[in-house]
Amino acid sequence: MDLSLDDFEVLISEDRIRERCRELGQEIRAAVGDGPLVCVGVLKGSFIFMADLVRAIGGPLTCDFLRVSSYEGTRSTGNVRIEFDLTQPIEGADVLLIEDIVDTGRTAEFLLQSFQVRQPRSLRFCSLLDKPERRVVEVPVDHVGFTIANRFVIGYGLDFDGRYRDLPDIRALNPKKEAELAH
Ligand code: IMP
Repeated sequence: MDLSLDDFEVLISEDRIRERCRELGQEIRAAVGDGPLVCVGVLKGSFIFMADLVRAIGGPLTCDFLRVSSYEGTRSTGNVRIEFDLTQPIEGADVLLIEDIVDTGRTAEFLLQSFQVRQPRSLRFCSLLDKPERRVVEVPVDHVGFTIANRFVIGYGLDFDGRYRDLPDIRALNPKKEAELAH
């Protein structure tokens, strides 16, 4: 189905995102202490959130990325695989995994397991958005930006078919379109 920006309404404003990032940064730094932190962003959805979050965390940190494929259209397929991996080992490191959204939880479950076997010193998981109603597998999310209802969202890194990641706010598909898509 073709969707345009008119099919979406603002769910979380730029100001609320900015404020929440600041809070999350402080929360995470307080939780991990003053030492070096390896921040790992899951591409592509987390890149804009991560850019703001790492600046809010502050202190000694490095950034790495990995990319998984798991999603087609507006619903998760449940097939997760690493398309490209971290550039550095994380053994013995304090690691923060950064996601855009936890939906069914399958991607997060897969990534957390795949990170645990690499034996980091500690592993925390931060997601900008959480859609708990859609959860299929339980995953511990240590830091959540916003808990949202079961709606399809775009903007601030999140896409529909690769588009709209550049929007400064987070927008949700309007319920009428969402119902059409479900059929
Ligand atoms: P999960 O494995 O079902 O938890 O899906 C996680 C991934 O699905 C996220 O990293 C997103 O890339 C994608 N995703 C889930 N819900 C949405 C949404 O509402 N908008 C855009 N992408 C989404």
